[in-house]
Amino acid sequence: MSLETYRRKDLLSIRELEPGEITFLLDQTDSFREINERDIKKVPTLRGKTIVNLFFENSTRTRASFEIAGKRLSADVINLSVSTSSAAKGETLRDTARNIEAMATDVLVVRHWASGAPAYLGRELDCAVVNAGDGCHEHPTQALLDLYTIREHKKKFQGLNVSIVGDIAHSRVARSNVAGLMKLGANVTFCGPSTMLPAEVDCLGARVTTRLDEAIDGADVLIALRIQLERGAGSAFPSAREYANTYGITKKKLQGAKRDLLIMHPGPINRGVEMSPDVADGPFSVILEQVEYGVACRMAILYLLSVKKEEEPGDAETEEADAGEPRKSRKEVRDAVAH
Ligand code: CP
Repeated sequence: MSLETYRRKDLLSIRELEPGEITFLLDQTDSFREINERDIKKVPTLRGKTIVNLFFENSTRTRASFEIAGKRLSADVINLSVSTSSAAKGETLRDTARNIEAMATDVLVVRHWASGAPAYLGRELDCAVVNAGDGCHEHPTQALLDLYTIREHKKKFQGLNVSIVGDIAHSRVARSNVAGLMKLGANVTFCGPSTMLPAEVDCLGARVTTRLDEAIDGADVLIALRIQLERGAGSAFPSAREYANTYGITKKKLQGAKRDLLIMHPGPINRGVEMSPDVADGPFSVILEQVEYGVACRMAILYLLSVKKEEEPGDAETEEADAGEPRKSRKEVRDAVAH
């Protein structure tokens, strides 16, 4: 695969990607990382392109990371959140998005509380759509930066033991990560109280345990997840203190862990709940590296989705043979249906 042959319009989930595409996106992240290490961290690659971050849920890392990524590539980046957009006045998601697209937007980065909202916009819009986290469904760019961080340290995925601990039921990060890790050959274990395991856990392909010591034993990577109180996780355990006692990752509980274990967390961390501060800031932790690599990862994605690609000769021939006329854009199809 090459820059010229990468042909996806949107980035909506890890589940839809082939293993070769995931590896290609990680390799592209490598190329963009160097820009972030320069004194002047800016290149003209996306000059004249417009990127809109449309966030219907709170975010620190993802939104700032997409904004920095776009600006380092010289794109014009606009941030809209639900409290400052006309969605707060009752406008539909489709209308909001189509109005943003009408301003000649090239990439729409969407975070939404509803699973499937970015995929819906991907079908409705001609511009590229990136899923920046949708409900409990997927968070593909978080998974890509997690995979990149793991590859930097472990150099391979085949046979790697990765344990994901905590609120699996509500976690889009867990769903994207398990898909990506398993496609690349890693073994994944989900660990949490049974009240925090999703009903469909058996379909996700991971080993499941309710015991933290089993998740730590033999693990090469331990990813702790935030307890998502805003999605009702608070009713899944008696108190934060009890959760921390049983599932909180502490130095003491890591005594039998592999010496080169990686500790990861997508953030934001509830310190003292999912992990103790000495683990979050300790020698095994690569949590801030995840954030650092996230910028390069998003630069690669913004670049790949916003550069115009010429149609491959085969595409045009097939279309001509099939329809006798050039393919219509989504807008042209909608207009034809409307009139
Ligand atoms: N990891 C992550 O999605 O963090 P934010 O909610 O701060 O974007």
